[in-house]
Amino acid sequence: MTLQIGPLTVRPGLAMAPMAGVTDHPFRVLAKEQGCPLVYSEMISAKGLVLSSRRNSSLLYFTNRERPIGFQLFGSDPMIMSEAARIIETFGPDFIDLNLGCPTPKIIRNGEGGALMRNPALCREIFCAVVSAVSCPVTVKLRKGWDEQSLNALEIARLAEKSGMKAVTIHGRTVRQGYSGRADWDIIKQAKELLSIPVIGNGDVDSPYSAEEMFNICGCDGVMIGRAARGNPWIFGATLAWLRDGKILQPPTMEEIVEMILKHFRIAIDFKNEATAAREMRRHAAWYIKGIEGAAVLRQQLVRITSFSETEKILRDFAARSRS
Ligand SMILES: Cc1cc2nc3c(=O)[nH]c(=O)nc-3n(C[C@H](O)[C@H](O)[C@H](O)COP(=O)(O)O)c2cc1C
Repeated sequence: MTLQIGPLTVRPGLAMAPMAGVTDHPFRVLAKEQGCPLVYSEMISAKGLVLSSRRNSSLLYFTNRERPIGFQLFGSDPMIMSEAARIIETFGPDFIDLNLGCPTPKIIRNGEGGALMRNPALCREIFCAVVSAVSCPVTVKLRKGWDEQSLNALEIARLAEKSGMKAVTIHGRTVRQGYSGRADWDIIKQAKELLSIPVIGNGDVDSPYSAEEMFNICGCDGVMIGRAARGNPWIFGATLAWLRDGKILQPPTMEEIVEMILKHFRIAIDFKNEATAAREMRRHAAWYIKGIEGAAVLRQQLVRITSFSETEKILRDFAARSRS
């Protein structure tokens, strides 16, 4: 369960997945506070960095308490990717990860993200260009293949290893699948058997028990949790307690959920401004309250929030009503 990415040791190898629109600075801080051993940035456009010199983008901001952190890049031009990696390295992340999995139509149309799974020769060029451009470790996150007819994760993972990449994350779905169906963990197991660089497994881990199961079934070095972490930074503390001590932590109480949402909101306000933070918190709040009794009505109120004080009142009134 130890994940070694170049000189970086992550123990246990548990990570929060990169998620655009979710794993920004405020949410990473909360995941870290719950003990998450490794976090990633949202994906960052290489073209945006190099051609529009968006170097003050909020995507690039992090603090030392988020370490170790990987910054994720997406793009398709080896020259631009290597230049972007050079720029990113100056911000000092612990490593740089390359995105070969994004299924968003706009990204695919540009030949980026998951579209690269269709072009191993270009992948190789990108891998070599980026690895030789920077001195920090470079890793890659890929899918099982483009579609069921072209399952080439192992081929691309081998190319990554040969190009000097320090770890490979495999999401056990094809790009065409998007997020539907079940993730295939067998491909992760096969990659682990084939490669000598570390393998991080990803797809459908949603509890401490499924994290342990993935470690056991796949023999992988790391396990990455994505969607199940949204509105649930506690999943990392619970998973650590289970993996390390076989302890089962109680789920958070309504009071703890309220305090976490408000804390998230405060960090987001400091990071951006109240209006932007409120817009972003509408989504996060809906995730935080998922599954609690009375969530539907509460969600109706939270999808309209515009300020911290209004949100605090809505949540505290709700918590008081649930107590009585
Ligand atoms: C809202 C959202 C945004 C995502 N953004 C990224 C991203 O920026 N980079 C990336 O490599 N994967 C991204 N992913 C994919 C996740 O990292 C992960 O591979 C996927 O959700 C499967 O893991 P899970 O079953 O634990 O959610 C995103 C997924 C979601 C749901």
